[in-house]
Order: sequence, then C-alpha cells, then structure tokens
Amino acid sequence: MPSLPTASFLLLMSALTLRAAPANAFLRPGLNLNGQWRQIVDPYDTGFYDYRMHAYDEAAQPSGGFFLDQRPLAETDLIEYSFDASPTLAVPGDWNSQEERLFYYEGTVWYRRQFDYTPSSSNSRLFLCFGAANYEADVYLNGHKLGHHVGGFTPFSFEATAVLKPKGNSLVVRVNNQRHRDGVPTVMTDWWNYGGLTRDVRLVEAPATFIADNAIHLASGTRDHIAIRVRLDGARPVQKVTVTIPELSLTAGTTTGPDGVALLDLAAPGIALWSPEHPKLYTVSVAAETDGLTDDIGFRTIEVRGHEILLNGQPVFLRGICVHEENPLRGGRAYSLADASQLLGWARDLNCNFLRLAHYPHNEHMARLADKLGLLLWEEIPVYWAVAWDNPDTLANARAQLSELIGRDQNRASVIIWSVANETPVSEARTRFLRTLIDDARTLDGTRLVSAAMEVRTDPADSAHKIVDDPLGEFTDLQSFNEYVGWYDGMPEKINRVRWTIARDKPVIISEFGADAVQGMHASASTRFSEEFQEEVYRQTLPMLDKIPQFRGCTPWILCDFRSPRRVLPKIQDGWNRKGLIGENGLKKKAFEVLKAYYADHLRPPEAAAPPPPKQP
Ligand code: GCU
Repeated sequence: MPSLPTASFLLLMSALTLRAAPANAFLRPGLNLNGQWRQIVDPYDTGFYDYRMHAYDEAAQPSGGFFLDQRPLAETDLIEYSFDASPTLAVPGDWNSQEERLFYYEGTVWYRRQFDYTPSSSNSRLFLCFGAANYEADVYLNGHKLGHHVGGFTPFSFEATAVLKPKGNSLVVRVNNQRHRDGVPTVMTDWWNYGGLTRDVRLVEAPATFIADNAIHLASGTRDHIAIRVRLDGARPVQKVTVTIPELSLTAGTTTGPDGVALLDLAAPGIALWSPEHPKLYTVSVAAETDGLTDDIGFRTIEVRGHEILLNGQPVFLRGICVHEENPLRGGRAYSLADASQLLGWARDLNCNFLRLAHYPHNEHMARLADKLGLLLWEEIPVYWAVAWDNPDTLANARAQLSELIGRDQNRASVIIWSVANETPVSEARTRFLRTLIDDARTLDGTRLVSAAMEVRTDPADSAHKIVDDPLGEFTDLQSFNEYVGWYDGMPEKINRVRWTIARDKPVIISEFGADAVQGMHASASTRFSEEFQEEVYRQTLPMLDKIPQFRGCTPWILCDFRSPRRVLPKIQDGWNRKGLIGENGLKKKAFEVLKAYYADHLRPPEAAAPPPPKQP
C-alpha cells in the first residue's frame, strides 16, 4: 500500500546533493542563537577577497579573512577589523529596516556571534541551522569554513561537530544580498531585496544517527491509510522505527533498510480529516532506536477532477489573497509568529480560506500557523520573470530551493500547491526549465498540486479577447494566471468586455489581479491611485471571473502594501507598491470590503460540517 515513490525519490535526493541535516531542526534540543550579533558592513568584500580578488578561504591563506575573528597570529600582524568594536544587528531580521544607512544596501555584511555550548552527550552531532539568509551565506565556526549556501528563502544547516568547543565559540557568517543575472530570483523583482540573517539561527544537537527526513500523509487514493517515509542519517542506518498516533491508539513499526529508509503504512479508520472548517491536527511520534520526533500533523487529500479542485473529495472554492513576507507596520521582512498571525489574521478578516505566499518560500511560522487556523496555502520558489533559462547552475539553484522548501513543509496539511514560477516569458528553454521543476515537485511529493502563475496573451485583433494557452499549462494541475485588466491593461470599464479562451479544461485560479490605491485617497472611480478606482476594479473583475466556467478561486494582488524599489512615484508610491487592500498603516481600503463580501457568498455550505470519514470496506 505504501504510495511513496522511493527509487526516483532517492535518485533525485542524491542528484540534488542536499546536505544531511536533522529533520524538524527548529523543534530539536540545542541553543537559540537569535539576538544581537556584531556586524561589519563590507561593501568591497575586503574580508573575503584579497586585493587580487582571490577568495581568502579558497586559497586557504587564513591571513586576511574576517572569518578569523581577530585571533592575531603574531603580535605584529596587521588586523584591520574588529567585531568587538563593531555595532550590532538583530537576528532574525533584515538589515535594511534596522539601520537608515543600510536601507538601500546591497552587498556583504559580516555577522559574528560568540557562544558556549556543552553537548549533552559526547556522541552527539551538532548542526548550525539557519531558517534563511538572503541571498548567499558563508558560514565559519572558530575560523573553519563549514559551508556556503545560495538562496534567500529556504532553510540550510551545516554540521559543526568537529570544530565546536565547550567555550568561546566564534560563529562568523558572511551574508551577501547582491542580485545576479543568473540568480534565483534574477536582478529584477518587484519586492525589496532585504538582506541579512532574516530568520532564526539555532545550534541543534542530534544523536549520531538521526532522522534526517520524514514524510507523513494520507496514502494517495485513500482517506484512511497513512503513508510514512523515514530516512535515517548516520553510522547506524538499519534501525527499528515505530510511528504512533496516541489519540487514535494507532501504531506501526518496521526496520529501515541499509540506505536508512523505511516505508510504513498505517491503517487509520475513523481519522478526522483536516480542512479549513475543521483544522484537525494529530500529534504523531516517529521513534527510531537512536532518535525521535513528534509533530502536529493534519491529514487531508487534495486533487483535481475536471474543473473541480477536491479537498477531501469535496469541491472547494479557493477564497484567496496574495501576500509578501513583510510586516508593513514595521516595514521589514516578516519572520516571527506574531508577524504570521498579523498577516493570516488579516486574511481571515477577508473571509479567506487560502493564501498565495508570493513569490518565494515564507518563514515556517506561516505554514504551521495556517495548519492550526485552517488556511490553505500556495507556496512558490522565486523563479520570477526572466531568469537565465539556459544556465545549468541557475536550474540547479532553483531545484535546490524547491527541494529545501518541500523538505521543510511536506508535512503541512495547509500547503496544497507547489508553484514553480511567476510570470515567466514563454520559450522552449523556459518551459524545459520549468518542466524539470514540476517533475521534481511530483517526485519529491506526489500528494499535492503543482502549478505556476502563468501569463495571458491578448488577441491582436481584439484587445478584450484574452487567450490562456501557455504551453506550461499542459504539465500543471491548474490553469493559474495573472491578469491586470483595468490597471496595466485599459481602464476598469474594459473589464466586463473581456472574453476568455482557455486552452485546457482544468480548474482556473486567477493568481493575481488588482490595482494601486493610496489608503485614504478618495476621488472618482476613474482616478488612478484612488480607493474608488481600486474598488471599481474589484467590483468589475469578480463578476467577470464568475463567467469563466472552470473558475475555482483567486488570489488578488495583494493583502497589504509592500516595499518595492520599482515604485518611485512621489507622494503616491514613495517606494511602496500600493496594490494592497490594506495600507502600510494597517488601515483597510474600500476594495477590502468588496472582496470580503464576495467571499462571504462563497463560504462552503455548511462551513461548519466536514464530510464524515469514509465507511470501512
Ligand atoms: C506582477 C508580479 C508582482 C507585481 C505585480 C504588480 O504581476 O507578479 O510581483 O508586484 O504584478 O505589478 O504590482
């Protein structure tokens, strides 16, 4: 009965050369390293390269690198930096919103944190775990290079067992947020390029052989069997593994193979399924002989059938909104549980049951809180606009980000869609690139829908005739696309003249529509940037979308105003994209009420009762 594809999955995992790290790192014992870290702003990367642009650590010439943290080799040595004498930055947090002088800064900042730690056992393995660091990070402990990570929005860990000391550890991290043409994302985005150690940092202690991966969800095609994959990492890969759900007095056991992998199938008669109406989570324990994990997990199925998106076998309409990982009230990268509850709280005020976390993986608090609150999620990697499709390193980078995201959130019931891209120009190279990502997503996790925010074509003969025939749509589960009729494309009066030709008979999700409005600016409905203009766009767009037969939901752009370096109109934008339904001041705009009322009409009847679990054969 196990439904998890092992061979192709393990093949892909090894191809992706992901580092072994303890699963559920931030739920494990260890040391929280958040707080004030010393910082050195290094625009010329003096601490990384010598004047010949040779990287110090590559040349293993430990004379000049800042990572040495000031241990003079000899009295006479010339040291031209001092962490002890340097100011601090808060971690987690972006540097741009912490210091005026760093608001626009793109470059290198060196972070240093000193700490003591005595492992609880001499056999333990120790990992430095980062929730994220934008964009590149080089990590050093006590002068030793532990590793390098690329990608600003996914977790990564480096093993520190060999170099950690009980006292006086010096952890130095070089973070660089410069944009690159061959990067993911590439150089042009419509969001602020917040740099820094933007999420939690933790020293994690794990047994010599630990659980490196565990995927737990309903076996595909069933709603009463749980499929479990466990992978151990360490010197003792062959171990007894037991999975228990105490509340259901369910338990199952097996033994891992020589590759440390075990597959289990757990019959779960009478299990209550997770849904927005009933976000039921079960405490699940996975115990190996040397390691154990406990997590709160919901069980639900998500699939498409014809025009329908089926949640636990029932049609669902996705009442959504897009959101950036930013706390507008503080004006910086969101990272905390409080930030997540702020943003998800606003979405619930809007009668949403769904959010598109744009355009990159958000912090783990979002998915874990969405599990609890009963909100469905679309998660995405920042393959955004025109990335370097023919560059194999760019593809490898995107694949690594996707697998790091799936590895982190695969057990979150709230996550129903993996999105591999946003608004990418159609070309063969692009479609080939994105197909690889779609295949990876299906191999790494065959239990969710896969899609992308695709583009719309306009009939040259009739600008009100919109055509959705992106070739990528052949390989996605949804026809999801962005449309801006009434803002980038004509005025609001054009909206109800629009007619659609949609090539494929799949559920349609409008992944973006909207218009800018300054909160508090009132004028006629044809005055751009007024609340009335934005309200009119919503008033016209929603009934227009209702005419699309396979329309099954939308995520308008966007929950709240957000910072963007592309938005420079004085006294109107001032560095903010104003398409939020909530202003940067937290105040709602008129269009908020239009969407809220529209969603009130789409509440699932009865929102209260979830379908009874299926009868046992
Ligand atoms: C695009 C894009 C968003 C952007 C929005 C806008 O569609 O996906 O990232 O912010 O439109 O122009 O406001």
